[in-house]
Amino acid sequence: MVAAVRVHKHGGPEVLTYEDVEVPAPGPGQARVKNHACGLNYIDTYFRSGLYPAAGGLPFIGGNEGAGEVVAVGPGVTDVKVGDRVGYTSALGSYAAERITPADRLVKLPDNISYQQAAGMMLKGMTVEYLLNRTFKVQKGMNVLIHAAAGGIGLIACQWANYLGANVIGTVGSKDKAELAKANGCHHTILYREEDFPAKVKEITGGKLCEVVYDGVGKATFPASLDCIKPLGMFASFGNASGSIEAFNINLLQAKGSLFCTRPTLNTYTAKREDLLSIANNLFSVVGSGKVKIPVNQTYALKDTRKAHEDLEGRKTTGSTVLVP
Ligand SMILES: NC(=O)c1ccc[n+]([C@@H]2O[C@H](COP(=O)([O-])OP(=O)(O)OC[C@H]3O[C@@H](n4cnc5c(N)ncnc54)[C@H](OP(=O)(O)O)[C@@H]3O)[C@@H](O)[C@H]2O)c1
Repeated sequence: MVAAVRVHKHGGPEVLTYEDVEVPAPGPGQARVKNHACGLNYIDTYFRSGLYPAAGGLPFIGGNEGAGEVVAVGPGVTDVKVGDRVGYTSALGSYAAERITPADRLVKLPDNISYQQAAGMMLKGMTVEYLLNRTFKVQKGMNVLIHAAAGGIGLIACQWANYLGANVIGTVGSKDKAELAKANGCHHTILYREEDFPAKVKEITGGKLCEVVYDGVGKATFPASLDCIKPLGMFASFGNASGSIEAFNINLLQAKGSLFCTRPTLNTYTAKREDLLSIANNLFSVVGSGKVKIPVNQTYALKDTRKAHEDLEGRKTTGSTVLVP
């Protein structure tokens, strides 16, 4: 038996239950991983609340990101072996001291990446990689708006967009978060709970607006985000921290300047193992070289996952958060 955090019914953080679970032997194509650190992500709250259905139904072990050591492999596994240090974002179930996971979703960690760093970046950092390099290719001199710039995705995205040479504009919920975003590569911050953020973007860019807006906030920033984008620009809506964007008339994109709009997800971009490895290696490269740092600003014991969810949804966390089994 190992310690894990399970969800037996959908609801708020109070439904997260710390308990012992059995871990079976790995089946064909599977590996057993002893987690040294588990990542906390906003998506974990969507599965907990029921906004996103868990593939296997209830109950399920929460968590989508982790890092640890391979302790057993099932028949036919060639991608990893016992003793490998690995990081992953894969099927639900990372809130556990040990877990079974598909072996072809595991990525071997370079020696210069710690378990804590890996648990703070496999999901968030790989998401930033595809958003900035694949969903829309950010280039030198472009104006880029990143919502929730002091969050887990936000601090990584600010640093990476800055490294790519963009003029980085970030929205934040408080003055402290503005300072933090600035210390992580954000050139201009906007207090979007107090200020008219499209008007500020217009002012900051001298009326040119942005080539791309990265929006993981959702309901609260829509449709205002569209007013921050120049004609033929891209609206990348990648999350719903404030709730899902409601159905809208697609003619709105015409009215706002023939905009492109996408709702991407990491699973699509990493569906092929070669793409998973390419995205992970790009992440390891920018982190290994120090161009992008992974700010693990909160650490909780796995038994305190409920508190970690409360803090994440209460907008009290910044950067990445790691749970330690
Ligand atoms: N599509 C993908 O592939 C993908 C992958 C990873 C993450 N995501 C999405 O990316 C977003 C960020 O994820 P994360 O894990 O890094 O979380 P996070 O940014 O660390 O936390 C969410 C932040 O959103 C802001 N926010 C705005 N309105 C909010 C509200 N009503 N309630 C709570 N927070 C609110 C808060 O920052 P302020 O206080 O500064 O407003 C909060 O800190 C989420 O929407 C997540 O689902 C998508």
